Amino acid sequence: MKDILESSFIKEFCRLTTNMYRLGWDERNGGNVSYLLKEEELKDYLDLTKVIRKIPFAGVHPTSFDATPLAGKIFLVTGTGKYFKNVELDPKNNLGIVRIANNGKEAELLWGFEDGGRFTSEFPAHMMSHMARLSVDPNNRIVMHCHPTNLLAMSYCHPLDEASFSHTLWEMSTECIVVFPEGVGCLPWMLCGTDTIGEATAAKMKDFRLVLWPFHGIYGAGKDIDEAFGLIETAEKAASVYNVIGSRPILQTITEDDMAELISLFNLSPRWDFFKEEKYRSLAKKK
Ligand code: 13P
Ligand code: ZN
Repeated sequence: MKDILESSFIKEFCRLTTNMYRLGWDERNGGNVSYLLKEEELKDYLDLTKVIRKIPFAGVHPTSFDATPLAGKIFLVTGTGKYFKNVELDPKNNLGIVRIANNGKEAELLWGFEDGGRFTSEFPAHMMSHMARLSVDPNNRIVMHCHPTNLLAMSYCHPLDEASFSHTLWEMSTECIVVFPEGVGCLPWMLCGTDTIGEATAAKMKDFRLVLWPFHGIYGAGKDIDEAFGLIETAEKAASVYNVIGSRPILQTITEDDMAELISLFNLSPRWDFFKEEKYRSLAKKK
């Protein structure tokens, strides 16, 4: 067997967590990431018949939470209580590779969490989000949660309806509507670490790759690490522009006509119902 620490997926994942920490998105143990791995990419590194231990899901209602649609799927995931700044220095203790058991109620540890640790407390939200994203995009592999300062700050002083929140982000930087034409889903504040917030997040994940948890952070999803990271990075950049502007009057902005030009140039399908002008809103009604 080859050394798993040399695998491209562990290296890329470590670089990701280091970058997230460096950007200030993951103070202390804040944030968590899960990455759906392919058996082909694992077979040279791990004996997939060897289960180290079984880890039951926590924070879920045992009767209602069911991960059987993901049975047999293998995830590289961050550990609960682990600091992102330490992941790259010590992947074996801070990360784990787990396979969802056939009963959909627990996961089989195949590698990592060597100090007896377990996966993130947000595992239910991650698994439900994977199920939701896979149902609309079979290529989705990453779910990522973090606490970026500017999106958090914006959640205190901007209305939390997803149409106006998304519209403001689209206005704050030209590339936003190109990167997330579907906008950003917004939840109310909810207790984290439970299957209730997991269900609510997953319901939004059917329509959005970005879901805001007000006063807490954001979820991003994508077919690879770059897509999920790039989504959060772009939204966070726009939120930072919003916060730099603060309460100063906006004298000019990106108009909906400008956005429509971008949409046409990049051949996108945005949430027309998030637009304000009737000529654009009516495009949503036609669908
Ligand atoms: P974990 O340490 O359990 O991953 O929790 C961090 C977090 O961000 C909770 O929302
Ligand atoms: Zn969090």
